Amino acid sequence: MRIAVVGSGYVGLVTGVCFADLGHEVVLVDNDEKKLEALRTGEVPIHEKFLPELLAKHRGNRIKFSGDLQSATRASEAIFIAVGTPATESGDADMSYVESVAREISGAVDGYKVIVEKSTVPVFTNNWIRTIILRNGADPELFDIASNPEFLREGTAVPDFLYPDRIVVGAENERAAEVMRKIYDPLTSGWYYGRGDAIPRPDRAMSPTQAPPRLIITTAQSAEMIKHASNAFLAMKISFINAVASICEAVGANVQEVCDGIGADSRIGPRFLNPGIGYGGSCFPKDLLAFRAVAKEGGYDFRLLEEVIRINEEQRRRFLKKVRSVLWTLRGKRLGVLGLAFKGGTDDIRESPALLLVEELLREGCQICAYDPAAMDRAREILPAGVEFATDAYHAAKGADAVLLLTEWEEFAALDLERLRGVVRYPIVIDGRNLYDPATMMAHGFSYYSIGRPPAIVEEASAGRSTKKERA
Ligand SMILES: NC(=O)c1ccc[n+]([C@@H]2O[C@H](COP(=O)([O-])OP(=O)(O)OC[C@H]3O[C@@H](n4cnc5c(N)ncnc54)[C@H](O)[C@@H]3O)[C@@H](O)[C@H]2O)c1
Repeated sequence: MRIAVVGSGYVGLVTGVCFADLGHEVVLVDNDEKKLEALRTGEVPIHEKFLPELLAKHRGNRIKFSGDLQSATRASEAIFIAVGTPATESGDADMSYVESVAREISGAVDGYKVIVEKSTVPVFTNNWIRTIILRNGADPELFDIASNPEFLREGTAVPDFLYPDRIVVGAENERAAEVMRKIYDPLTSGWYYGRGDAIPRPDRAMSPTQAPPRLIITTAQSAEMIKHASNAFLAMKISFINAVASICEAVGANVQEVCDGIGADSRIGPRFLNPGIGYGGSCFPKDLLAFRAVAKEGGYDFRLLEEVIRINEEQRRRFLKKVRSVLWTLRGKRLGVLGLAFKGGTDDIRESPALLLVEELLREGCQICAYDPAAMDRAREILPAGVEFATDAYHAAKGADAVLLLTEWEEFAALDLERLRGVVRYPIVIDGRNLYDPATMMAHGFSYYSIGRPPAIVEEASAGRSTKKERA
């Protein structure tokens, strides 16, 4: 099928290249000329596994880049809107980017087209898009609106898109639903999974013998609700386990053991039970605010969401308190910071708890030497001068009073601990992501503090030797 994807950010770019890999003809539209030029010349603007390979495979062939939304609309049977929907001051989603796209599309509806909301939007956005397109003169018989929320996670966005748990489509009528079925048929029929050159199946996804993903057809309102409710539920799971971790710290229990115990219950499941410094990123914070605003508008005071947000913010404050309690005073302390992205596998720093912590530590007078495998260029643009950026984790840790683990990158979970021990000033690791086993850290001479687990403390006097004693 001929598809236009409007917005070539994290979602639009991934959606576009994955549709191309499913065999569709794709035009990726953006109003950022610099981004388009970079894409045309082969640059990959975001860090996402398999994206460079797919872009190289389909660029100029099944995927084209354009700044001309009207021509792209005319040439396409389906137009996916994947522009940003950031939070406004009051917490509602700012829908002005979606509105401007809808307005521009309206002048180019010259044959039947399905306009698809891919962006995360509040309920009833489908009605608004329809209204705007009609107001601008399009023939009502020539278009339908569908909602097709995206559930990909940054860092594993391409495999998430191609091996989804489910595909949700909110369609107004059978005609629009049929177009959406055709677009996703390579996945729902299992055709893609039988292809020799398919992107490899991620471990967590279905086994080769399992059924392909189900296409769930709903009303547009329900599809819009499904996205907000899913994100709110996942954020709630994170805040829940972070609250449990705080209680574990108070009573001397080990949150990892607690997670194993509760995650083994099939009604709960082990995923998203990872205590840490809280969620961040471009989705959960803004989507929770937007969902709360939607609920309020509908006359429901969704106070549970407020509590989820409060626990999340509290989690960062608790971590800061932990750093203070380990180092006593912070002014002048040199900290090796590992991780700036909001999660591992991405260069996205939007609402990153790691970055918010770094900013707070700077305010407290700490010297920061930071390293992130992908997010340093973006972080450099917003962190104040004076922050040092290292070439690797050991460089960041050199001469540090303590090493802070703030993002769960795989490479941070596999550090050469002997080497790390050799470069730090004091062997102290404060882990905001529970990447290490406390006993292993102690065995390597580190005093190790993590989330929801008893600290493993090496006697100061013997910190450089191999005799260690654990204090709970
Ligand atoms: N990032 C995620 O992990 C994720 C996951 C699921 C859903 N979403 C949702 O998808 C939407 C997009 O998120 P994102 O992270 O890809 O945003 P992004 O900021 O990375 O990308 C948005 C893109 O849209 C472009 N754009 C803005 N206005 C435009 C216009 N009028 N015409 C053409 N292009 C325009 C921007 O230049 C930018 O390239 C949001 O609603 C978000 O909530 C994001």
